[in-house]
Amino acid sequence: MRIAVLGSGAMGSLYGGLLSEGNNEVWLLDIWKEHVKRINKEGLKIEGKSGNRIVENIRATVDPNEIGIVDLLLIFVKSTITDKALEGAKNIIGESTLILTLQNGLGNIEKIESVVGKENIIAGTTSHGATMLSPGKILHAGIGTTIIGEINGLKSDRVKRLKEIFDESKIETVVTDNVIGLIWDKLLVNVGINAITALTELRNGRIVEFIETKEILELAVGEGEKVAKAKGIKLINQEPIEHTKQICRLTAQNKSSMLQDIINKRKTEIDMINGAIVREGKKHSINTPINLILTNLIKVKEKREN
Ligand code: PAF
Repeated sequence: MRIAVLGSGAMGSLYGGLLSEGNNEVWLLDIWKEHVKRINKEGLKIEGKSGNRIVENIRATVDPNEIGIVDLLLIFVKSTITDKALEGAKNIIGESTLILTLQNGLGNIEKIESVVGKENIIAGTTSHGATMLSPGKILHAGIGTTIIGEINGLKSDRVKRLKEIFDESKIETVVTDNVIGLIWDKLLVNVGINAITALTELRNGRIVEFIETKEILELAVGEGEKVAKAKGIKLINQEPIEHTKQICRLTAQNKSSMLQDIINKRKTEIDMINGAIVREGKKHSINTPINLILTNLIKVKEKREN
């Protein structure tokens, strides 16, 4: 399969590397010139859970014109720029190019739809963890499951084919008929972990050790759960608070993506995570004060850092 990964930070590079090792033709597309240059010169270096090695057969570019039409476009840019980045990569999207988003946060499907329509979008979530070590070099920090599905819930041939390709590339993948519920499950995990870790600069595992942060996590996820129910979302996980705490323990050593954004002085995905709970809550007259506070504190931190 010809595959391009739009946004080749730690997670994008990890998926690109694994798919390349699974004998696919993979292009990493990113605006970070130093990263692109290193990969083309020395290969993509992966360390960590899946072993230390160099992926040689992978190409990277800042210019979508080099790539041509692909069969699959995997989107891993920050959810703040999904539509803008996709707009810039339009000429690698053909009529039957599948667009797969495994990004965090709410609103990615809508943003993709606004650029290329709904027809070829497949969505999902990932539980892998990855961190950028240096240009061309990433750490595979945690191995987890990838879950994908059609927006309409059908277990289509194309989604089953994608699962096969991912499984062959050692990306263990499950197909769901409730991808919206799945995205909300993951959203609630991010609601409970990301802002708190970014504000306290603690790793994921530590925020369930302090009773103070654990209490905020419980309240934030509880508000999110109420909003999900009001919207009629069928969550897959029936105990989102416990589930979030469990993910903290499973990814104890992770620096959450939002903490990494703050450390690297990047804009965070707060508007698509806790901010989304506040926005959606308002539509259903549900008060979400904890999520409002977390959102506003992160925004102040972003303004101060930049
Ligand atoms: O955004 C992240 O960092 C991840 O989604 C998660 C699950 C919180 C683990 O760090």
